[in-house]
Amino acid sequence: MEPILKTENLWKVYRSGKVEFAALRGVSIQIFPGEFISVMGPSGCGKSTLLHVMGGLAQATSGHVLLDGNDLTTMGDAARTLLRRHKVGFVFQRFNLLPTLDAYHNITLAQHIHGNGFDPHRFELIARLLGLTDRLHHKPSELSGGEQQRVALARAIISEPKIVLADEPTGNLDTKSSESVLSLLRQLNKDLGQTIVMITHNPEAATYGNRVLHMRDGVVVNGSSGH
Ligand SMILES: Nc1ncnc2c1ncn2[C@@H]1O[C@H](COP(=O)(O)OP(=O)(O)OP(=O)(O)O)[C@@H](O)[C@H]1O
Ligand SMILES: [Mg+2]
Repeated sequence: MEPILKTENLWKVYRSGKVEFAALRGVSIQIFPGEFISVMGPSGCGKSTLLHVMGGLAQATSGHVLLDGNDLTTMGDAARTLLRRHKVGFVFQRFNLLPTLDAYHNITLAQHIHGNGFDPHRFELIARLLGLTDRLHHKPSELSGGEQQRVALARAIISEPKIVLADEPTGNLDTKSSESVLSLLRQLNKDLGQTIVMITHNPEAATYGNRVLHMRDGVVVNGSSGH
Protein backbone atom coordinates (compact mmCIF):
# COMPACT_ATOMS: atom_id res chain seq x y z
CA MET A 1 0.00 0.00 0.00
CA GLU A 2 1.20 3.51 -0.79
CA PRO A 3 1.43 5.91 2.15
CA ILE A 4 -1.04 8.79 2.07
CA LEU A 5 1.61 10.98 3.64
CA LYS A 6 5.34 10.51 3.73
CA THR A 7 8.15 12.70 4.98
CA GLU A 8 11.79 12.24 3.99
CA ASN A 9 14.54 13.69 6.17
CA LEU A 10 12.36 16.68 6.98
CA TRP A 11 14.02 19.75 8.53
CA LYS A 12 12.44 22.96 9.71
CA VAL A 13 14.73 25.74 10.88
CA TYR A 14 13.17 28.87 12.39
CA ARG A 15 15.18 32.05 12.01
CA SER A 16 14.64 35.18 14.03
CA GLY A 17 17.37 37.71 13.27
CA LYS A 18 20.65 35.88 13.65
CA VAL A 19 19.22 33.19 15.88
CA GLU A 20 18.40 29.86 14.29
CA PHE A 21 16.50 27.01 15.84
CA ALA A 22 15.99 23.63 14.21
CA ALA A 23 12.52 22.51 15.33
CA LEU A 24 12.59 19.46 13.01
CA ARG A 25 15.89 17.63 12.59
CA GLY A 26 15.37 14.92 10.01
CA VAL A 27 11.91 13.41 10.35
CA SER A 28 11.15 10.44 8.09
CA ILE A 29 7.74 8.88 8.63
CA GLN A 30 5.03 7.16 6.62
CA ILE A 31 1.30 7.35 7.27
CA PHE A 32 -0.94 4.82 5.58
CA PRO A 33 -4.61 5.08 4.57
CA GLY A 34 -6.94 4.27 7.46
CA GLU A 35 -4.41 4.86 10.23
CA PHE A 36 -5.23 6.85 13.37
CA ILE A 37 -1.91 8.06 14.70
CA SER A 38 -1.19 9.85 17.96
CA VAL A 39 1.87 12.10 18.25
CA MET A 40 3.29 12.56 21.73
CA GLY A 41 6.33 14.27 23.18
CA PRO A 42 7.41 17.04 25.55
CA SER A 43 6.46 20.66 24.99
CA GLY A 44 8.65 22.29 22.34
CA CYS A 45 9.81 19.01 20.73
CA GLY A 46 8.33 20.00 17.35
CA LYS A 47 4.91 18.33 17.22
CA SER A 48 2.95 21.34 15.96
CA THR A 49 5.75 22.26 13.58
CA LEU A 50 5.65 18.75 12.10
CA LEU A 51 1.87 18.91 11.67
CA HIS A 52 2.04 22.33 10.01
CA VAL A 53 4.78 21.32 7.58
CA MET A 54 3.10 17.96 6.81
CA GLY A 55 -0.18 19.70 6.07
CA GLY A 56 1.30 22.45 3.90
CA LEU A 57 0.59 25.27 6.37
CA ALA A 58 4.32 25.95 6.66
CA GLN A 59 7.23 25.47 4.26
CA ALA A 60 9.96 22.93 5.07
CA THR A 61 13.58 24.09 5.22
CA SER A 62 14.79 20.87 3.59
CA GLY A 63 13.66 17.32 2.94
CA HIS A 64 10.39 16.24 1.40
CA VAL A 65 6.70 15.92 2.21
CA LEU A 66 4.72 13.69 -0.12
CA LEU A 67 0.99 14.15 0.28
CA ASP A 68 -1.01 11.68 -1.76
CA GLY A 69 1.99 11.46 -4.09
CA ASN A 70 2.45 15.23 -4.46
CA ASP A 71 5.68 16.78 -3.19
CA LEU A 72 4.71 19.83 -1.12
CA THR A 73 8.32 20.96 -0.81
CA THR A 74 8.88 21.53 -4.51
CA MET A 75 5.67 23.40 -5.32
CA GLY A 76 4.89 27.09 -4.97
CA ASP A 77 2.72 28.64 -2.25
CA ALA A 78 -0.40 28.83 -4.44
CA ALA A 79 -0.25 25.21 -5.53
CA ARG A 80 0.47 24.08 -1.97
CA THR A 81 -2.52 26.04 -0.66
CA LEU A 82 -4.80 24.51 -3.26
CA LEU A 83 -3.60 21.00 -2.49
CA ARG A 84 -4.02 21.61 1.24
CA ARG A 85 -7.63 22.76 0.75
CA HIS A 86 -8.51 19.64 -1.17
CA LYS A 87 -6.64 17.03 0.77
CA VAL A 88 -6.15 18.14 4.38
CA GLY A 89 -8.59 18.85 7.21
CA PHE A 90 -7.15 20.72 10.20
CA VAL A 91 -8.49 20.74 13.76
CA PHE A 92 -6.96 23.02 16.38
CA GLN A 93 -7.02 23.27 20.16
CA ARG A 94 -8.82 26.63 20.00
CA PHE A 95 -11.54 25.55 17.55
CA ASN A 96 -10.90 28.62 15.28
CA LEU A 97 -14.58 29.08 14.36
CA LEU A 98 -15.89 32.37 12.97
CA PRO A 99 -17.89 33.99 15.79
CA THR A 100 -20.49 35.69 13.58
CA LEU A 101 -21.47 32.54 11.66
CA ASP A 102 -23.71 29.76 12.90
CA ALA A 103 -22.57 26.14 12.94
CA TYR A 104 -24.00 25.39 9.50
CA HIS A 105 -22.13 28.27 7.86
CA ASN A 106 -18.91 27.58 9.75
CA ILE A 107 -18.96 24.02 8.44
CA THR A 108 -19.78 24.90 4.83
CA LEU A 109 -18.09 28.30 4.36
CA ALA A 110 -14.88 27.07 2.73
CA GLN A 111 -16.79 24.81 0.38
CA HIS A 112 -19.01 27.66 -0.76
CA ILE A 113 -16.05 30.03 -1.20
CA HIS A 114 -13.77 27.61 -2.99
CA GLY A 115 -16.50 25.82 -4.92
CA ASN A 116 -15.29 22.43 -3.78
CA GLY A 117 -18.71 21.02 -4.50
CA PHE A 118 -21.25 21.01 -1.68
CA ASP A 119 -22.87 17.61 -1.14
CA PRO A 120 -26.05 17.85 0.99
CA HIS A 121 -26.02 14.10 1.68
CA ARG A 122 -22.48 14.23 2.95
CA PHE A 123 -23.41 17.22 5.08
CA GLU A 124 -26.36 15.41 6.61
CA LEU A 125 -24.27 12.31 7.33
CA ILE A 126 -21.53 14.31 9.04
CA ALA A 127 -23.96 16.47 11.06
CA ARG A 128 -25.78 13.36 12.26
CA LEU A 129 -22.60 11.45 13.04
CA LEU A 130 -21.25 14.35 15.09
CA GLY A 131 -24.56 14.95 16.85
CA LEU A 132 -24.95 18.48 15.49
CA THR A 133 -28.27 18.21 13.70
CA ASP A 134 -30.16 20.35 16.22
CA ARG A 135 -27.27 22.79 16.82
CA LEU A 136 -26.75 24.01 13.25
CA HIS A 137 -28.30 27.44 13.74
CA HIS A 138 -26.34 28.24 16.89
CA LYS A 139 -23.35 30.58 16.83
CA PRO A 140 -20.11 29.45 18.54
CA SER A 141 -20.92 31.58 21.63
CA GLU A 142 -24.16 29.61 21.98
CA LEU A 143 -22.38 26.23 21.92
CA SER A 144 -20.41 24.34 24.57
CA GLY A 145 -16.70 23.75 24.04
CA GLY A 146 -17.34 20.15 23.03
CA GLU A 147 -20.00 21.23 20.54
CA GLN A 148 -17.69 23.88 19.10
CA GLN A 149 -14.97 21.29 18.60
CA ARG A 150 -17.49 18.97 16.90
CA VAL A 151 -18.36 21.83 14.53
CA ALA A 152 -14.64 22.29 13.83
CA LEU A 153 -14.37 18.56 13.21
CA ALA A 154 -17.32 18.66 10.80
CA ARG A 155 -15.69 21.57 8.96
CA ALA A 156 -12.44 19.61 8.71
CA ILE A 157 -14.01 16.50 7.18
CA ILE A 158 -16.91 17.87 5.13
CA SER A 159 -14.92 17.90 1.89
CA GLU A 160 -13.61 14.33 2.38
CA PRO A 161 -9.96 15.17 3.03
CA LYS A 162 -7.35 12.47 2.55
CA ILE A 163 -6.05 13.17 6.03
CA VAL A 164 -7.16 14.97 9.19
CA LEU A 165 -4.43 16.70 11.19
CA ALA A 166 -5.52 17.57 14.72
CA ASP A 167 -3.33 19.61 17.10
CA GLU A 168 -4.38 18.84 20.68
CA PRO A 169 -8.08 18.80 19.75
CA THR A 170 -9.10 18.08 23.35
CA GLY A 171 -6.63 20.49 24.95
CA ASN A 172 -9.37 23.00 25.83
CA LEU A 173 -12.07 20.51 26.80
CA ASP A 174 -13.25 19.01 30.07
CA THR A 175 -12.95 15.24 30.58
CA LYS A 176 -16.44 14.41 29.35
CA SER A 177 -16.27 16.54 26.18
CA SER A 178 -12.77 15.19 25.51
CA GLU A 179 -14.03 11.61 25.64
CA SER A 180 -16.87 12.50 23.28
CA VAL A 181 -14.54 14.16 20.73
CA LEU A 182 -12.04 11.27 20.97
CA SER A 183 -14.80 8.68 20.50
CA LEU A 184 -16.02 10.59 17.46
CA LEU A 185 -12.53 10.69 15.99
CA ARG A 186 -12.28 6.94 16.49
CA GLN A 187 -15.70 6.47 14.90
CA LEU A 188 -14.74 8.60 11.88
CA ASN A 189 -11.62 6.48 11.56
CA LYS A 190 -13.45 3.15 11.90
CA ASP A 191 -16.69 3.88 10.05
CA LEU A 192 -15.51 6.24 7.30
CA GLY A 193 -11.91 5.03 7.11
CA GLN A 194 -10.74 8.56 7.80
CA THR A 195 -6.96 8.79 8.19
CA ILE A 196 -6.10 10.88 11.27
CA VAL A 197 -2.98 12.26 12.89
CA MET A 198 -3.59 13.69 16.36
CA ILE A 199 -1.16 15.46 18.66
CA THR A 200 -1.90 14.89 22.33
CA HIS A 201 -0.27 15.32 25.73
CA ASN A 202 -2.65 12.83 27.26
CA PRO A 203 -1.59 9.14 27.30
CA GLU A 204 -5.25 8.17 27.71
CA ALA A 205 -6.19 10.09 24.55
CA ALA A 206 -3.34 8.41 22.67
CA THR A 207 -4.95 5.01 23.23
CA TYR A 208 -7.83 5.97 20.93
CA GLY A 209 -5.46 5.73 17.98
CA ASN A 210 -3.78 2.61 16.62
CA ARG A 211 -0.17 3.83 16.54
CA VAL A 212 1.84 6.31 18.57
CA LEU A 213 4.73 8.40 17.27
CA HIS A 214 6.98 9.67 20.05
CA MET A 215 8.93 12.86 19.36
CA ARG A 216 11.91 14.33 21.15
CA ASP A 217 14.08 17.32 20.20
CA GLY A 218 12.84 17.53 16.62
CA VAL A 219 12.97 13.84 15.73
CA VAL A 220 10.57 10.92 15.85
CA VAL A 221 12.18 8.40 18.18
CA ASN A 222 9.99 5.45 17.25
CA GLY A 223 7.74 4.46 14.43
CA SER A 224 6.58 1.13 15.70
CA SER A 225 3.11 -0.31 15.40
CA GLY A 226 0.95 -0.36 18.48
CA HIS A 227 -2.63 -1.59 19.09
N1 LIG B 1 7.59 30.79 14.49
C1 LIG B 1 8.58 30.36 15.28
N2 LIG B 1 9.75 31.03 15.34
C2 LIG B 1 10.76 30.59 16.09
N3 LIG B 1 10.73 29.46 16.83
C3 LIG B 1 9.60 28.75 16.82
C4 LIG B 1 8.46 29.16 16.04
N4 LIG B 1 7.47 28.25 16.22
C5 LIG B 1 7.97 27.32 17.06
N5 LIG B 1 9.25 27.62 17.41
C6 LIG B 1 10.11 26.82 18.30
O1 LIG B 1 10.25 25.52 17.74
C7 LIG B 1 10.18 24.50 18.75
C8 LIG B 1 9.05 23.53 18.43
O2 LIG B 1 7.80 24.20 18.55
P1 LIG B 1 6.42 23.43 18.39
O3 LIG B 1 5.34 24.45 18.50
O4 LIG B 1 6.47 22.64 17.15
O5 LIG B 1 6.45 22.47 19.65
P2 LIG B 1 5.33 21.49 20.23
O6 LIG B 1 5.95 20.16 20.36
O7 LIG B 1 4.09 21.63 19.43
O8 LIG B 1 5.12 22.10 21.70
P3 LIG B 1 3.75 22.17 22.58
O9 LIG B 1 3.54 20.78 23.13
O10 LIG B 1 4.10 23.14 23.68
O11 LIG B 1 2.64 22.64 21.71
C9 LIG B 1 9.99 25.25 20.08
O12 LIG B 1 11.24 25.36 20.69
C10 LIG B 1 9.48 26.61 19.67
O13 LIG B 1 9.88 27.60 20.58
MG1 LIG C 1 2.16 22.34 19.84
